Formats: sequence, structure tokens, C-alpha cells
Amino acid sequence: MSEEIIVAHQTDNISGTIQASGAKNSALKLMTASILGQGKSIIKNVPDISDIHVMSAVLTTIGAKVDRKDHELLIDTSTVDKWETPYNLVSKMRASISVLGPLVGRFGRARVAMPGGCQIGARKIDMHLIGMEQLGVEFTMDHGYLVATTPHGLHAGNIVLEFPSVGATENTMMCATVAPGHTTIDNAACEPEIHDLANFLCEMGAHIKGAGTSSIEIEGVPLSQMHPAEHSTVGDRIEGGTFLVGGALLGGPVTVTGVSPKHLHMPLVKLRQMGCDVDYDDTSITVGRTKPLVATDIQTLPYPGFPTDLQAQFMLLCALAKGNSIVTENVFENRFMFASELMRMGADIVIDDHHAIVHGESHLEGAPVKATDLRAGAALVLAGLEADGKTIIRNIHHIDRGYEDYVGNLRKLGAHVERETLSDEEISALE
Ligand code: EPZ
Repeated sequence: MSEEIIVAHQTDNISGTIQASGAKNSALKLMTASILGQGKSIIKNVPDISDIHVMSAVLTTIGAKVDRKDHELLIDTSTVDKWETPYNLVSKMRASISVLGPLVGRFGRARVAMPGGCQIGARKIDMHLIGMEQLGVEFTMDHGYLVATTPHGLHAGNIVLEFPSVGATENTMMCATVAPGHTTIDNAACEPEIHDLANFLCEMGAHIKGAGTSSIEIEGVPLSQMHPAEHSTVGDRIEGGTFLVGGALLGGPVTVTGVSPKHLHMPLVKLRQMGCDVDYDDTSITVGRTKPLVATDIQTLPYPGFPTDLQAQFMLLCALAKGNSIVTENVFENRFMFASELMRMGADIVIDDHHAIVHGESHLEGAPVKATDLRAGAALVLAGLEADGKTIIRNIHHIDRGYEDYVGNLRKLGAHVERETLSDEEISALE
């Protein structure tokens, strides 16, 4: 059986302008929230990536109609008549769990396959359940399925999340939208994608204040008052940040439009600390470099802290910088697999629990490597542009989950990179 791979060749520099797509990690939840709109919602600026295709299949399975026109989705949820999502789809994409809050809000019940873990961690959902239990939801397990019921109906609650979980904040907020009374969510996640979701919910008739801060207040409204709406997805700060790292890596300048610099504050601070030139205005961000990279320490934290989804990309910069860096991963329990692949290319990294000591000034050589998650995959392609020779990146389905035409965009910036299909024999020659 053949396999599609990405081949990256050493590239002197990349420069130019890239328009970021809409944020994957918002669009997926806007799609599930449309269940509460009970009609034809339009979601604009939706990236054409495989996770969106899977979520479209999830919504279709429960009875919605999803049509795509370029980067717009027309989702008719008036015909949603099921509250169960199948394992085969949830196992493909954990974010399917984001149907839980809207389904319980709309039907008072749901039967959702438990999402499995993934390469970067166990990805538990205990905080989702604890949050929704404060709203009157009761959960039982049924052969790998999570069964939610509301025997006494939904009611408001005062929720304090143990950790500012993005998913738990989203599911609880969507469920509380139609829970009678005044709900508060404290220690809520503050990511821009949460704020984007709340804006869409309010456009559909919800009364939500404070989204994007750690304290969210929700005045529940009757489901009958919720209606479809039109919304444009916020720009993808992680996709944009990935291309800006490319500018920092090879010199640039690379400009990204469609992402607010506010949403990349900490990564831009770190790029400046590493010796990069960073300029931005309201509509675009430009990163270039004329001096050698300087080591800096990175610690990932919930927003507005440094985003875990840019950790691998910055670890690559640290591997090339003058001096040693310590990268600390505080969000996921197992998100250093990228380091193991980068070491195959010549990086010198020591992992100690959730710290990675990255020795700088590595000389990277092209090698066959494997993407372990979408961000590590994207970072490996960038590594291949810097390394001597040719780098073959496998398991590129991870990258296609979150980056629309990643190779095409990099080529637009001048990168020597292409997608190829290898035959069985060629693959076994790599093993
Ligand atoms: C979202 O995942 C994003 N995914 C992730 O992006 C992102 O890395 C993450 O938020 C953090 O910003 C989507 O939005 C689809 P969490 P999510 O709940 O919601 C633990 C990418 O590359 N936790 O904030 O799953 C959890 O195990 C992806 O685009 C519990 O223990 O993240 C993790 O260690 C990767 N119990 C930490 O909290 C819970 O109930 C953060 O998880 C929930 C979470």
C-alpha cells in the first residue's frame, strides 16, 4: 500500500506573506454550538482540513445537513434528531466530545463515545463532567459510551474548574447557555477560541459575559429563544505562529495576516528574546532575523501564557540558538515526542520529566522522521528546511488535520518542499 509523505529540502530562506486560515480549535466548536441554533447557521473562514470533515460527519450522523462553499459552512441543525455520536468518529477526533454540551442543552441527554487518549496525553474529560454536573447533568458509562441525562432538568451552577481546561470551559458554557438561572464559571480557560465561541453563542441569542477571561457569567435563556446565526471564525494563531517561526528559523521576513498580534503576545515576546525582528500592526505580524538566534527558556501555560501548540516549533529554534534552553511543558503530560524525532536529525536534547534541556547550535541533518501530532509534524517540516540534505516526514495525516495546504503555503514562501507518494518498496526501504 502506498503512503503519502512530505519531502523537505534544505532551503536558504523563506519570505513573503501568508493569510492565516480560520482557527481549527474554534471552528470545530462553532460547528457543535450550531446545534443550539436549531436552524441554518453560516460559519465563515472555516479551514479546509480533515478535522472539519470529521466534525461535519459527526453532525450529519445526528441528523444535521452540512454544506461547504469554499471556506463557508452552511449547517442546518433543524433536522438534528439524534443525541448519540458513534465511536468510529469520536475515536478519529477527540474534539467530537464538544457535541456533549450542545446535545444536553438541546435534548436534555446525550450518548457520546468516550474519546481515547492520543500521543500527547490521556486527554481526560473529568472536568467536563464535573462542570456539567453542577448544571444538573448526570453521567453514567455504558460500554465505552458516556450517557448524559438531566432527570430534574438543567439549572444554573457556580462552577470552579480545577484547571483552565479549554474543552471543559466550552462544554460547560454551551450547556449553561440554556440552563435557567445565573451560572458562573471560574478558573475558566481564556483562549481566544473561547471568546470566539461565546460571541457566536450570543449571536444565536445567548447571554454570556466575561468569555476570554477566567470568570465567565451566563444568564440561561430558553432553548426556544436560541436561533441560527452567521459568524466568521477567528484567525488561527497557532497556524500563523508556525509560519512566523519559519521566518525566525531561516531569516524571513515572513508576514502573517488574519491573526491578531494580541493572540500571539507571548510567542512574539520569546521571538524578540531570541534575537528576531518582530513588527506588527492590527492586521499583520512580520518576523525576520538578521542575527544568530539566542537561547531562551520556554514554559507552556494556559492562555495568555505560552501556547503548548507552539512548543515543538520553538524547541526547533532553541536547538539552533546560541546557548542552552529549558523547555517546560506544563499543559500535557507527554508532549516531547517531537524532541525524539529532532534528535534523529542531530539535535541534542535531554528530557527530564516535563522539562527538556535543549543544547543549542545543533547541526541538523536531513533524515526520515515521523509526525506524532499535528504541531510536531509541522515543526518537523520546518526542521527539514533548515537541515542539510533531504528530510522525509511520514504520518503526515497529522499535519492535514490542522493545516490547510501546509506544503503549498510553504512553497509560496520559497520553501523547497513537496508532497510525494511512496510505493511499498520505497517505504520498506525507509524502515
Ligand atoms: C484544546 O484541547 C486544543 N484542541 C488543543 O490543541 C490545545 O493544545 C489545548 O486545548 C490546550 O490549549 C482543540 O481545541 C480541539 P484542555 P483540550 O482541556 O480542550 C487536562 C492542537 O494541536 N484535562 O485545555 O483537550 C488534559 O489532559 C490541539 O490543535 C483533564 O485532565 O485541552 C490536558 O493535560 C492539541 N481533564 C490539560 O488538561 C479534563 O476534563 C489541558 O487540556 C480536561 C482536560
